[in-house]
Amino acid sequence: MTTHQTLIFATGNAHKVHEVGLILGGSNLSLKSLKDINWTTEIIEDGDTFHANALIKAKAIYDEGHRMVISEDSGIAVDALQGAPGIYSARYAGVGKQAVDNNALLLQNLDGITERTARYIAVICCIVDGEVNFFEGRWEGHIVDTLSAGQGGFGYDPLFIPEGYTKTVADLPPSVKSEHSHRAKAFTAFKAYWKERYQ
Ligand code: IMP
Repeated sequence: MTTHQTLIFATGNAHKVHEVGLILGGSNLSLKSLKDINWTTEIIEDGDTFHANALIKAKAIYDEGHRMVISEDSGIAVDALQGAPGIYSARYAGVGKQAVDNNALLLQNLDGITERTARYIAVICCIVDGEVNFFEGRWEGHIVDTLSAGQGGFGYDPLFIPEGYTKTVADLPPSVKSEHSHRAKAFTAFKAYWKERYQ
């Protein structure tokens, strides 16, 4: 018999909550965000890998007495920039800056560079009763040279064209992202593990 289960999702990012809601739609698994549990303490993400930062976020919540916690750390890695912005994607243009600033800086740093391959990376950390597991997803593509006008997605989406497409993620239907993105792949792997282990 399978029952409905709820995990705490250690994120304050409303876009991630929305996308993961679409990815998990139809399953008997749901997530409560930090907002849902009235979490206000800042979590300092000072790890030097996606895995380390995902673990920091999940552990901070788990250590406060939550039995089932999941977190996700993600970013975009550009080959011509030796993997930057990578784990610094959210604060590429500086702490407190917006996506529009990060996008402008990325375009500036790629100015004149024709080799523009990049990938989104998402790493999930799941802690249940002290057992830690990681799940990773990647989405290959390239960076355009002008910001697209599309309003879909968030972050670097107006600059990223996934392999096999001709439009940026901001211009593609949301279903493309919820089926094929780095986050979709990581959460699909997590869902399979969860089903096998806990349902
Ligand atoms: P985190 O919340 O610390 O994991 O930072 C994630 C950052 O990576 C976001 O703020 C974005 O800058 C970037 N990022 C991760 N996933 C996506 C995505 O799906 N689209 C666009 N930007 C993303």
